[in-house]
Amino acid sequence: VRDLITVEGMSRESLREVVETARDFAAGRFDAPLAGKTVCLAFFEASTRTAASFELAARRNGAAVISLSENGSSISKGESLVDTVVTLDALGADAVVLRHSSAGAARLAARYTSAAVINAGDGCGQHPTQALLDLYALSGACGGFDELYGTKLAVVGDVLHSRVARSVIPAFRAAGVEVAVCAPATLLPAESDAWDVPVLESVDECLEWGADTLYALRLQNERMTGALVPSVAEYARYYGVQKRHLDGERLVMHPGPVNRGVEIAGDVVLDAASLVPDQVSAGLHVRSAVLALATGAVPSVVAGGAVA
Ligand code: CP
Repeated sequence: VRDLITVEGMSRESLREVVETARDFAAGRFDAPLAGKTVCLAFFEASTRTAASFELAARRNGAAVISLSENGSSISKGESLVDTVVTLDALGADAVVLRHSSAGAARLAARYTSAAVINAGDGCGQHPTQALLDLYALSGACGGFDELYGTKLAVVGDVLHSRVARSVIPAFRAAGVEVAVCAPATLLPAESDAWDVPVLESVDECLEWGADTLYALRLQNERMTGALVPSVAEYARYYGVQKRHLDGERLVMHPGPVNRGVEIAGDVVLDAASLVPDQVSAGLHVRSAVLALATGAVPSVVAGGAVA
């Protein structure tokens, strides 16, 4: 059993193993590999894509599924995350998929269960399966995992609050992609100094830098503690991906949900350059692979494993 708490430290070969196992799932090469396994989906923060695709992945691959949310579980009566995890362990869960508003929640949970803990997003911390499905989607569009090598991806927008950025940046760099960030200074975390990536100041600068892919981040209004500087209108002007930024080759990604007209124009979401629908459908295959590799239903052959 292996946890997936973060993509930090995953090797190129580990990333490739997840992507290629996901392609095997997409091609229908496995027959109910999770039969006999119990997967608990513990979503204590809102989700559509991640929750739905994990549930579909678990059920389609034969697992028994327990679904918990904050309102319907004893968390609402004050039970702690640790006691919740201990309870799921006693029920024999093989995997606990956890979304939580606090960074570090998945790492904490993993200390209290022998089940594989899969981080489905922890506050501003990490969202590892998002980065993995993004690798799957972009490598599919580029013609294969090795074709990602040397391409240029600009991560644009609210980096400060983004667990997606904290996962996408190390995962894509480990895959050999050149990464830059583009954000107003007020939405860049102090830790970005240590990332050693170019910092750009507008989508136009991303084009000058030579971005092959623009990865737009959601402006996370629910995590803002003060006024947005710049204003939403200025933000959209300098950091919003517009149709004029497309050239027939450049690709656009966004993890969803989308603030149309803010970080990405509505017509860009629908454009042929947009990988947004591919990212969503990649989630099913990648999360099938992650569940199978984490529970040992499909053995990992990479030293150090697909998950850390
Ligand atoms: N990208 C993402 O995590 O979406 P959800 O919040 O809908 O799961």
